Amino acid sequence: MKKIIIGNFKMNPSSKKKASDLFKAFDIKTKNLVILCPPFCFLEKGENYILGAQNCFLKNEGAYTGEVSPKMLKDLGCKYVILGHSERREYQKENNEEINKKIKICLENKLKPVLCIGEKLGENKEEVLKNQLKECLKGIKGSVIIAYEPIWAIGTGKTCKNEDILDSYNFIKKIVKESSVLYGGSVNSKNAKQILSITDGVLVGGASINKKEFLNIIK
Ligand code: 13P
Repeated sequence: MKKIIIGNFKMNPSSKKKASDLFKAFDIKTKNLVILCPPFCFLEKGENYILGAQNCFLKNEGAYTGEVSPKMLKDLGCKYVILGHSERREYQKENNEEINKKIKICLENKLKPVLCIGEKLGENKEEVLKNQLKECLKGIKGSVIIAYEPIWAIGTGKTCKNEDILDSYNFIKKIVKESSVLYGGSVNSKNAKQILSITDGVLVGGASINKKEFLNIIK
C-alpha cells in the first residue's frame, strides 16, 4: 500500500542552493507519496514529490505583517500544510483554537492539513490526544491527515516503542476513522520500515535534510 512520507525540513537548510540540492536528490520515482515541506522561501516544484508548507496564517490576505496565507501557498504549488506542530505550539504559543481556524481555511483553499498532535513526557497520552483532536477538529468536515508526534521523541533519538505507536495509531483511528494517521519523532532509515508497516506513513524531521537517510526512507 502507498505510504505517506513527509519531510519536514524545519528551519533548514541554510541556503536556497542547499535546499535545491535536496529537492533534486529527492525527486525520484518511488511507490510512496513523498511530500516535502521546506521553509516558505525555498518552495521548489519537482516531478516526483508534492510540496507542502510547515505553517500558514489563518486569513487569505490583509494587513498581517510577516504572515503567509493558504491562498499564496496554493498559488506556489503547495498541496499540504503541516499545522499545530509542537514547536509552533511551544515557540509561537499556537493553541488549538487557532489551529482549528487554520485547518478550516486550508480546507477552503483545497489544501490538505496535516495536524500534529502528541503528549509531553509525563502527560496522560489519551487525554491529550483526545482533547487536541476534539478542539482542533471542531466543526471540520473535510479530510485531515493526523500526525502523532510524542514531543519527547522529537529530535531526541528516542523513538516511541512499536507497540506504543500501534496503540496510539489505533486510538486515533477510533476517533477519526477516515484520516490517515502518521507517526513522527526520531524516524530514521533504520526504524522507518518497521514504523511504516504499522502506520499510514511517517513525518520525518532531522533525517529529511540528510540525503542518504531520507532517500533510504522514501525508496
Ligand atoms: P525528528 O524526526 O527530527 O525527531 O522531528 C520530528 C518532527 O518534528 C517532524 O515534524
